[in-house]
Amino acid sequence: MDKKIMIVFGTRPEAIKMCPIINELRSRNYKNFFVCATGQHLEMLDQVLEVFGVVPKYNLQIMTENQTLFTITTSILQKIEKILIDEKPDLVLVHGDTSTTFVTSLACYYMQIPVGHVEAGLRTNDIYSPYPEEFNREAVSLIAKYNFAPTKLARENLIKEGKDPHSIYITGNTAIDALQTTIKSDFVNEELEWAKGSRMILVTAHRRENIGQPMENIFSAIKELVELYPDIKVIYPIHKNPIVREIAKKHFSGLDRVHLIEPLNVVEFHNFISKSYFVMTDSGGIQEEAPSLGKPVLVLRDVTERPEGIEAGTLKLVGTDKETIIKEASLLLDNSDEYLKMSLKSNPYGDGKASKRIVDILLIGETNE
Ligand code: UD1
Ligand code: UDP
Repeated sequence: MDKKIMIVFGTRPEAIKMCPIINELRSRNYKNFFVCATGQHLEMLDQVLEVFGVVPKYNLQIMTENQTLFTITTSILQKIEKILIDEKPDLVLVHGDTSTTFVTSLACYYMQIPVGHVEAGLRTNDIYSPYPEEFNREAVSLIAKYNFAPTKLARENLIKEGKDPHSIYITGNTAIDALQTTIKSDFVNEELEWAKGSRMILVTAHRRENIGQPMENIFSAIKELVELYPDIKVIYPIHKNPIVREIAKKHFSGLDRVHLIEPLNVVEFHNFISKSYFVMTDSGGIQEEAPSLGKPVLVLRDVTERPEGIEAGTLKLVGTDKETIIKEASLLLDNSDEYLKMSLKSNPYGDGKASKRIVDILLIGETNE
C-alpha cells in the first residue's frame, strides 16, 4: 500500500525547497501525501505557496508579531499533536534547520513516527552560529530515519556523528531544482529597470545572531560603499522581521541609490540574483543559488555550513566587521580579475534532480549503496 506522507514546512526557505518535491510527487500522480504548514511565516510563506500553486491541507497559523523561539516552539508542538494523531502518517518530511523543522521532528519522535530530513548534514559545529539553526539540524539528525544529504560533505558530517550510513542518501539540494523553473531570459521588473546602467548589488540580511551590532556594521558598510562608488545601486528586499526593518530604515532612508523593497517572490528573487553584479547576504539558501547563477556572494557571517561554495570560489566569507566588508566589496568592484575569478559558474549543490532522487527513495526504496 502507498505510504502516507505528511510534508511540513513553515518558513519561506523551507517552502521553496519542499515545493519541488511536491511537484515531483504530483508529476507521478502520487496522491497519498498532504502538506501541513505551521505558518511560522505568513506573507513570506504565502508568496511561495502562490508561485508553486500549493494549498496546504492544514495551516497551524502560529505566527504572531514579535514571536520568540519559545512561542514558536510551544505553539507548533501543541497544535501539531492532533494532526499527527488524526492523520497517522507513515512518514513526515521536514526540511533544513528552522524551529518548524526541529519541533515537528520532536513531535514525531514523541509519537514514534519516522522522519525524513531534506537538506541533512549541514554543519558549523557551533550551536550559536547560526543560532538556533545549528542546534535544530543537529537535533533533527538524532531523530531522522531518512537523511537526504545535499552533498558528499554533508554525508560525511553525518557519518562522523555516527549516523547509520544506510540512512543517508546524497541527493543534491532541491533549491537547484527550483532554479530550473524560475529563471527566465525575458524577465522584466521595474526595480531592474531602475538599476539599469549601474552595477546592482543585491542585499539580504535577517539572521538572529546578526541582529544588533553586526547588522549595524553591515548596513554602515553598505552605506559607505554607496558613497564611495557612484556607479552602484543597491536593492534590498527586506525580510518582514520588524526589528530588521527598523535597523535598515535607520541606515538607508533618504539614500537615492538604495532601494528597500518588500520581499520578492521566488521567481523575482532568482531573476534579481541573475541580473545583479554581486550579492551580499547572511542567508543560507542564497549561498546555494548564487553559485549556480555565476554570481559572487559576500557572505555576511563568521561561519558557514556551506563550504562547497567557498571551495568552488563563488562565495567569500567576509564576516560582519565594517572595514572588512568594505575592503572585500571594493576588491570586487575595483579588480576585474578578482571579480571574474568569483563569477565562475559552478554547481556544487546539485544537478536539479534532487527531488526526483528523494521521491525515488521514498516511493521505490532506492538503495544508497
Ligand atoms: C526563520 C528561521 C531561520 C530562517 C528564516 C528564513 C527559525 C528559528 N528561524 O527566521 O532559520 O533562515 O526563517 O527567513 O526558525 N515575520 C512576518 N511575516 C512573515 C515572516 C516573518 O511578520 O511572513 C516576522 C515574524 O512575526 C517575526 C519575525 O518576522 O517577528 C521573525 O520571524 P521568525 O520566523 O521568528 O524568524 P526568522 O528570522 O524569519
Ligand atoms: N528569497 C525570496 N525573496 C526574497 C529573498 C529571498 O524568494 O526577497 C528566497 C531566496 O531565493 C532563497 C530563500 O528565499 O531561496 C532564502 O530564504 P531566507 O534568506 O529567508 O532564509 P535562509 O535561506 O537564510 O534560511
